[in-house]
Formats: sequence, structure tokens, C-alpha cells
Amino acid sequence: MAKLPIITAPDPRLRRKCAPVEAVDKTVRRLMDDMLETMYAAPGIGLAAPQVGIARRVVVVDIAREDEERAPYRMANPEVVEASDTLAEYEEGCLSLPQYYEEVMRPDRARIRYLDETGEPREVEVEGMLATCIQHEIDHLDGILFVDHISKLKRDMILRKLAKAKRAEAMAGA
Ligand code: NI
Repeated sequence: MAKLPIITAPDPRLRRKCAPVEAVDKTVRRLMDDMLETMYAAPGIGLAAPQVGIARRVVVVDIAREDEERAPYRMANPEVVEASDTLAEYEEGCLSLPQYYEEVMRPDRARIRYLDETGEPREVEVEGMLATCIQHEIDHLDGILFVDHISKLKRDMILRKLAKAKRAEAMAGA
């Protein structure tokens, strides 16, 4: 397994609509494992392929706490097939928007369809933080960031600050 570099916003690669995976083959499985290693090292609870520069519909998620056993999901072509009318608000962050956290409202329960790491079609009912996390990752596959769910004022401020930090880093030769 290998740790991959994570792309931070603003970056056009985070705004692309990703293409479906045709078959969950060795390359896709390798990508899933590399993404998990990258996510655990960050540390984070979810990661989508566009965040490591790959425009494919692949996400990994593990919301287990540090003192719990790992419970990773490896998902290809995940989609929300049903979402609850009831919403829940969670403070979200993103490895591509480091150090920014905002409350986001999303359906608090959802049915997710995906292909697992063996290519087997699966459906899971998720709720609470897991539902939020998976919906956040699926958004990434359509070029949507969590800040797109908050006010334009706050979103613009966060993206401006991130752009400024990037310019400063580039000037420092980092
Ligand atoms: Ni994210």
C-alpha cells in the first residue's frame, strides 16, 4: 500500500464529475487500499478518489473511533438510492479543506448502493454520522464540496483563505 498526496481546495480537479468504475479490478482494489492508508494517516474518516487526483467514482469511509476496531467501507460507484426527509446537522470537515469546519444539514438516513471491493453489488442503510460521511464523499464524485452546502458568504471566505494560504506556500517554495 502507498500513501497518496491529498489535493486541497481550490483546485479544478476537485470540481470534476468523476466517471464510473467499469469493473472492480486489481487496480481499483489497490486504489481503495491506498486511499484507506492515506485516510488513516491524515487522519480522516472518509476520502474520495478525486481528492487524490483520480476522477473515478471510488470512496473509502471508516468512522470507527481510535479505540474501536477499524470498520472500513470500500465503495465503487456509490449512489444514494433513498434519503430520509428528516435532516440532521453535523459539523463537517474535509481533508481537502484543512482546518475548516462548518455545520451542514443533510438527510439523517440514507440507503446507499455500491460495488464492494470484490465487485459485488451491495446496499446498506446508514444513519447519523455514517450517513453524513458517505453523502459527503459521494458529493466529491460530482465535484461538490461541503462548503457548497453553507452560505455563499462563508464559502467564499473559506475558499479565499485557502487560496491565499496556497499562494503563500508556493512563494515559500514549499
Ligand atoms: Ni471531503
